[in-house]
Amino acid sequence: MKKLFRTKSIKSHQEHSDLHRVLTAFDLTLLGIGAIIGAGVFVLTGVAAATKAGPAVTLSYVLAGLAALFSALSYAELATSVGGSGSAYGYAYSSFGELFAWIIGWALILEYTVSVSTVAVGWSGYVINGLEAVHIHLSPLLYKEPSIGGIVNLPAMLIIALITLFLCMGVKQSARFNAVIVLIKLFTIAFFILIAAGNLKTQNWIPYFPFGYEGVSKGAAIVFFAYIGFDALSTTAEETINPQRDLPIGIIFSLIFCTIIYVIVAALLTGIAHYSTLNVPSPVADALLHIGHPIAAGMIAVGAIAGLTTVMLVMYYGLTRIIFAISRDGLLPHFFSEVNPDTKTPIKNIIFMGVIIALIAGFVPLADLAELVNIGTLSAFICVCLGVIMLRRQYPDLPRSFKLPWNPLIPSLGILFCLYLMVHLSDITWQRFLTWMAIGLVVYFVYSRRHSKLEKH
Ligand code: ALA
Repeated sequence: MKKLFRTKSIKSHQEHSDLHRVLTAFDLTLLGIGAIIGAGVFVLTGVAAATKAGPAVTLSYVLAGLAALFSALSYAELATSVGGSGSAYGYAYSSFGELFAWIIGWALILEYTVSVSTVAVGWSGYVINGLEAVHIHLSPLLYKEPSIGGIVNLPAMLIIALITLFLCMGVKQSARFNAVIVLIKLFTIAFFILIAAGNLKTQNWIPYFPFGYEGVSKGAAIVFFAYIGFDALSTTAEETINPQRDLPIGIIFSLIFCTIIYVIVAALLTGIAHYSTLNVPSPVADALLHIGHPIAAGMIAVGAIAGLTTVMLVMYYGLTRIIFAISRDGLLPHFFSEVNPDTKTPIKNIIFMGVIIALIAGFVPLADLAELVNIGTLSAFICVCLGVIMLRRQYPDLPRSFKLPWNPLIPSLGILFCLYLMVHLSDITWQRFLTWMAIGLVVYFVYSRRHSKLEKH
């Protein structure tokens, strides 16, 4: 039994790294906002309002935001005490041992890979709409997946290829590219808020709970997707100049900022359009179009395209760093953690995962996979919250530059809120998730356990 739950010391997790320390608190906050605001608010707000919560989707955002906030606070404590670029995977290694770490790492690989592919497909949809608006028509064979009548989703694959190139070039270059796009994204959201505030029709908010209170919870389980991304910041610990101070700032600032934006956008969107009209691929732009603001709608579409680009950039970056950490521990093949001496980035890892993400985005229709991303993320968040409680017991004297007050209240609330959202996800999502996790266990016992660095000590 003891062998099954083998673990490694917390010190060994703070290993020397070949990655380059270049990121500041400002870079991190922008990276966080870059990863957070994307398909969730631009697409899922409409879906959740129309099919789950009605105008009360605003409350769904508050509920999901609380789950994210309690988890984010727990992330901040672990990021500054355990460190490492492996995120929840690394924290689980120190608090629960290798097997649990692998399970969480496997869930994170699902979360990040599928979310980048999903957002790439959404990006392609917005770009195609934009091209059609200026009378450039691509053949549907080139932007639809085979199962919905096309050959390949080429724009989705091309954007992944471009982002792969950026990530290979280096993290500082990627952060600069991200900063420019985040500013465009924020500007367009501010513009939406301005126009929508002048066109509110409060009768659209009646009835406020067309699907009852249960609808608010189901809506929260979906729009939780909109908050995913701040966790990717914790994977930058080895590339941040002063992670002890800057990581908590980056994680908490970006999350609070996005929560405020989401609540405002959700309230305004359901205030300018009836909730029942919002189940469309680009609800924010469509709503503006319907109230007679075509130019504003076009600008929002551009902002959405920018927003989706940075989400992919940061989530893809986080994915490669988590796989880097898992590989460094020996649980995945060594080439995933080889750092290129010129660019100081794990180029082989980036390209390998880029090919997989592009193949999924090019050939698999991903409409219902946002839920799968959510369930993988929620399970990882629960583990992070548990990790805070466990590590306080196991290593009470560990230096913690960011320490949560009233322990264990905040991580316990995180666990409760995340569990609550998980039980509101659909049965098919649970089945897919459990299948993925079962495959992960097979990989662990067939490959990872034998190649683990712990095995060799
Ligand atoms: N939070 C990210 C989005 O909404 C994943 O696209």
